[in-house]
Amino acid sequence: MSHPQIIAILDFGGQYTQLIARRVRENHVYCELFSPDTPADVLRARGVSGIILSGGPSSVYEAGAPRCDLKLFELGVPILGICYGMQLMCEAHGGSVHGGSAREFGRVKLRVTNAVGPLAHLPAETTAWMSHGDVVTSASSDFETLASTDATAIAAVRHRTKPFFGVQFHPEVTHTPLGSTILRNFVYEICGCRGDWKTATVVEDAIERIRAQVGPRDRVICGLSGGVDSGVVAALVHRAIGDRLICIFVNNGLLRLNESGLVESTFRGHFGIPLVVADARRQFVDALRGVLDPQQKRKIIGKLFIDVFRAEAAKIEHARFLAQGTIYPDVIESGHGPKGKAALIKAHHNVGGLPEELGFELVEPLRMLFKDEVRHMGEALGLPEELLWRHPFPGPGLAVRIAGEVTEERLDRLRRADQILIEELTIAGWYRKVAQAFAVLVPVASVGVMGDGRTFDDQNLIVLRMVETTDFMTADWVHIDYEVLGRVGRRIVNEVNGINRVAYDISSKPPATIEWQ
Ligand code: XMP
Repeated sequence: MSHPQIIAILDFGGQYTQLIARRVRENHVYCELFSPDTPADVLRARGVSGIILSGGPSSVYEAGAPRCDLKLFELGVPILGICYGMQLMCEAHGGSVHGGSAREFGRVKLRVTNAVGPLAHLPAETTAWMSHGDVVTSASSDFETLASTDATAIAAVRHRTKPFFGVQFHPEVTHTPLGSTILRNFVYEICGCRGDWKTATVVEDAIERIRAQVGPRDRVICGLSGGVDSGVVAALVHRAIGDRLICIFVNNGLLRLNESGLVESTFRGHFGIPLVVADARRQFVDALRGVLDPQQKRKIIGKLFIDVFRAEAAKIEHARFLAQGTIYPDVIESGHGPKGKAALIKAHHNVGGLPEELGFELVEPLRMLFKDEVRHMGEALGLPEELLWRHPFPGPGLAVRIAGEVTEERLDRLRRADQILIEELTIAGWYRKVAQAFAVLVPVASVGVMGDGRTFDDQNLIVLRMVETTDFMTADWVHIDYEVLGRVGRRIVNEVNGINRVAYDISSKPPATIEWQ
């Protein structure tokens, strides 16, 4: 992206590096993650206003530890080293780093002896979050110590003549309460950024890029999923090229209640975007008949989705591009980010998109954005709140929320139970507070009494699942209000035929996963 000002974050593999990027961007300053060995010339060519060296799991004194190009220190731009980044910077200037004795983890008291540079406006004592085994045991005489803790004498430094700074603690995590002030000081007061990276400019910039890429006659196809990312992409591409965008929505019958209706009313109704709805409900249920294994279900659904999509796309003339809602964490986590393929952290299920052999060129306007930035963009583009704040929903949909065979009857029960849960959470003000909430249908023959009779045959159990998480890699069950839980349970049993029992899942991830299958 062509932004007037950019901060480069060199990623040494720290677990909080993405957070540094988010904190910088919260200050309306654009930043990108770069690999640790990015040549100084590349950063000069990008015209970076400042550089942040991230934390990381290595020790600077180990062979093979990631290093930065030493010419970075000759670029004349401000540099802030965080944890490993500070150790690297000090070592590169003749200081020494050792492991062992000064290990610190968690919140510590930070004594600020000189509140200048990134520590400007900080009180003499504050809290900082530490997570390190190594420390700078001596810095060269070029450096002055700005802060210390009980265990770490050199907890923050500045170079005496150059704009180089280091902090041993992590200003990017919320456990360092004044951390945002520190990063703000760095980007505004030291790097001279103006904070001109705002949603409106990001939208305008993305629109210009789409126009430049697509050209005046070609058409773009966008597969809508009902989720935030594809919705924002569609609205954005439509702003850029109007009716040359055609959206395809595959109704696989495994969706939440009213999902198809919401997509149609939003994109066709409100935005007036040409929308093809492929009604493939029958095909999917037929293909899933008798299938019990969840991985098998996923495979069948994934393949059929591509077949249906491909058939619809083939009917659209002059379609050269496919617009996809790939976002920045997908890019980083799928190994295409700064650390390259070798550092593949996880093969995240939500990354996916359509296969290359469909033969389209890709338009990916959200590639450099985080989820919250995508939501802000969606707000600016006028997408309804209901769509913007919808909980994530797996591609294989309700099929992996039915333990056992998928049938139309079970889908219908599950959909209605799920809708009751979502309605009650919304009314009680809980929906936005949980990361993901849904119902799971467990087809056990559950015994119950209803009216005067015993119910047994064809009675199923509904399990409610609600989790709190930010990254979906670990999650806690939500300590939801019992009143709300009780109301949801009562309504499900009263309103959904075939359900006589409701349970609440109190497993965390790990060891459980978020989905049941
Ligand atoms: P798990 O169950 O692995 O879920 O803890 C983590 C997140 O991924 C979603 N999920 C999927 N998304 N296709 C998807 O697009 C899938 O097959 C799939 N399985 C799980 C899940 O909803 C949660 O947000």
